Amino acid sequence: MAKLSLPYLLATLVAYAAADGEVLRHPKQPCAHLKAPCIPGAEIISINGTELWNYTVSAVPGLLPSPVTGLDVCAVDVVLTHPGAHDKVLVKVWMPLEGWNGRFQANGGVGFAAGELDLTLGPTIKQGYSSASTDAGVGFNPSSPEAWALRPDGSVNRDALINFSYRSVHDMALIGKEITKQFYGQKPKYSYWNGCSTGGRQAMVAAQRYPDLFDGILAGAPAIYWTTYVIAEQWPQVVMKMEKSFPSPCELKVFTDAAIAECDGLDGVVDGVINDPDVCHFNPYALVGRKIPCDGMNVTITEATASVVQKVFQGPFGPDGESRWYGLNPGAALDSLTNTNVTHGKRVGAPFFVNDAWIRYWIAKDPNYDLSKINYSTLDRLFAQSDKEYDAIIGTDNPNLSGFQKSGGKLLMWHGLSDQLIFPKGTVEYRNRVERLMGGSEKVNEFFRLFLAPGVDHCAGTPSLGAVPTDPLAALVNWVENKRAPPNLAAEIAGSQGGARIICPYPQIAQYIGGDTKSANSFKCV
Ligand SMILES: *[C@@H]1O[C@H](CO)[C@@H](O)[C@H](O)[C@H]1NC(C)=O
Ligand SMILES: *[C@@H]1O[C@H](CO)[C@@H](O)[C@H](O)[C@H]1NC(C)=O
Ligand SMILES: *[C@@H]1O[C@H](CO)[C@@H](O)[C@H](O)[C@H]1NC(C)=O
Ligand SMILES: *[C@@H]1O[C@H](CO)[C@@H](O)[C@H](O)[C@H]1NC(C)=O
Ligand SMILES: *[C@@H]1O[C@H](CO)[C@@H](O)[C@H](O)[C@H]1NC(C)=O
Ligand SMILES: *[C@@H]1O[C@H](CO)[C@@H](O)[C@H](O)[C@H]1NC(C)=O
Ligand SMILES: *[C@@H]1O[C@H](CO)[C@@H](O)[C@H](O)[C@H]1NC(C)=O
Repeated sequence: MAKLSLPYLLATLVAYAAADGEVLRHPKQPCAHLKAPCIPGAEIISINGTELWNYTVSAVPGLLPSPVTGLDVCAVDVVLTHPGAHDKVLVKVWMPLEGWNGRFQANGGVGFAAGELDLTLGPTIKQGYSSASTDAGVGFNPSSPEAWALRPDGSVNRDALINFSYRSVHDMALIGKEITKQFYGQKPKYSYWNGCSTGGRQAMVAAQRYPDLFDGILAGAPAIYWTTYVIAEQWPQVVMKMEKSFPSPCELKVFTDAAIAECDGLDGVVDGVINDPDVCHFNPYALVGRKIPCDGMNVTITEATASVVQKVFQGPFGPDGESRWYGLNPGAALDSLTNTNVTHGKRVGAPFFVNDAWIRYWIAKDPNYDLSKINYSTLDRLFAQSDKEYDAIIGTDNPNLSGFQKSGGKLLMWHGLSDQLIFPKGTVEYRNRVERLMGGSEKVNEFFRLFLAPGVDHCAGTPSLGAVPTDPLAALVNWVENKRAPPNLAAEIAGSQGGARIICPYPQIAQYIGGDTKSANSFKCV
C-alpha cells in the first residue's frame, strides 16, 4: 500500500464531506413529480423521473473498468427540442435518493460522444453528487460520427457540430442544476465540470463561453486546438506513406523503449519514466542497423523507419519548413497514430479513428474519401482548411479567461506527458498564451493551474509507468470551497512497481531530493 500524503488525505476528506458541513440532504419532491425546467430557446418534450433502488451500472471495457453497484437514485430523462429544428436531445440527470452532498457535477464525453451517460452518472452519484450527462442530440457513439456529421444531402450538419461542440454544455448545466434544485428543495451549493479528452475540451468550452456555469472545472488532456491537432494526428500516416516505411508496432516499441532507457535516469531516479521530456534529446537514427525480434522474424531497423519516428517526434511541418503543430514526447507509445495493419499480406497505414472521421466527414465531406492518398502538400492544405471552416466552432482555444476569473471560478487542468493521442505541448502552448494575455504565471495560478504528469498516457487510459493523479477532483473541490490552491497533486504508480509521487504545477517539475523513491516526501516542486 503506497503512502498517502497529508495534503491528499485532507483534500479527500474535504471533498467527501457535505459541501457546507451540514448533515447530508434528503429529497423534498417525489422523483416522479419533477417538472420540466424552463430552458431559453428549447422546448421540453418529456421528463421522466424514476426511482431506482440498488441499481447497478455495468462495466464497459475501455470506458468503465468496474461496475458501480448499490445505487439508490432518482434517474431523470429530459428530452428537449429546439423549435423549428427536428432535433431531439437527451439530458440525463441522476440524484442520490439519500446522502446528497449538496454539489452538482456535470460530466463530459469521449471521442465523438458529448457524454458517457450512465457510465459517468453512476460513479459520480456514488460519491454523493447530483450529476448530469447529455448526448447533445447526436446519440452515443464515441468511435464514429457517421450518424450525424453530414445531412442527408451530403452537406456538413453545422447545427449538429455546434451542439456537439458547445451548446449542449450550456443546456445540460442549466437542466441539471434546475432539476437538482426541484428535487432537494435547494440549489446546489457548488457546481463542477469534470471531463477528459473530449470532456476536457468541453471543460474549456465552459471556461471560455459560459464562465458562470461552474465554480470548479476539471479539464483532463483537453482536446483543444481541435482543428489543428486532429489534422496533426494524421501526420504520422502521411510520413509513413512518403518515407515508404510502415513499421509494425513491435518496431515502434523499440524506439519508445530506447528513448526511455536513454532519458529515464536524467532526473536521478530510474523508474521507467522520463520526468522532463524537454531535456531528452533521443536520436532515433542511433537505432539504425539494430536487429530486433519482431512478429516472429529478425528485423533490421532501417534509415527510413528511423526517419518516420524522427518526424513523428518532430511533428508536422509544411513545404516551407515551418512547424504546423507539435509532435509526441519521447517515451510516448507511437502505435496509435503511427498505426498500421496487414491487408492482403502487405502492411499499410491505418489512421486513428478521430482524424480518420474528421478528414472524411468534415474536411472532404465524403464518407468514402481515401486518406491513403494524402501527401505532404495535401496535408498542409488540410491544416488551413480545417482551421478556416471550423475553428470558430470547435477550436476551444480562446486564451481570454477573464470572464471565468471574474466569476471566481477555479480551473484545474492536467495532461499526461506520454499522451499518445493529444499532444501535451499543445496544452502547454495554451497555458502560455493565457499567461501572456492575463498577467503572467503567478496571476494565472490564482485561478488556473496546469499539472503535467510524466509517463502517463491519454487520460491514464492505458496502464502507465508514470504516477497517475489520485484524485484531482478532490484537490479542485478543496480549492473552490476552502480557498486552498493545490501546491501539487498527489499521484500514485500502479502495479508491482508502486509508489507515491507529486505532480507539480506548470512550469515546476518534481525533483528527487533523496530518500525512498516510492515516497512522495522524496520529491519537491522546483
Ligand atoms: C421512464 O423511465 C423508465 C426507467 O428509465 C422507463 O422504464 C420508462 O419506460 C420511462 N417512461 C416513459 C414514459 O418514458
Ligand atoms: C443489491 O443487489 C445485489 C446484486 O447486485 C444483491 O446481491 C443484493 O442482495 C441487493 N441488496 C439488496 C438490499 O437488495
Ligand atoms: C442543435 O441545436 C439547435 C438550437 O440550439 C437546433 O436548432 C438544431 O436543430 C440542433 N441540431 C441538432 C442536430 O441537434
Ligand atoms: C533471429 O536471430 C537469432 C540470432 O541471430 C537466431 O537464433 C534466430 O533463429 C533468428 N530467428 C529467426 C526467426 O530467423
Ligand atoms: C486496415 O486499415 C484500413 C484503413 O483504416 C482499413 O480500411 C482496413 O479494413 C484495415 N484492415 C484490416 C485487416 O484490419
Ligand atoms: C499530392 O497529391 C495531390 C492530390 O492527389 C497531387 O495533385 C500532387 O501532385 C501530389 N503532390 C506530390 C508532391 O506528390
Ligand atoms: C477579454 O474578454 C473580455 C470580455 O469577455 C474583454 O472585455 C477584454 O477586453 C478581453 N481581453 C483581452 C486582452 O482581449
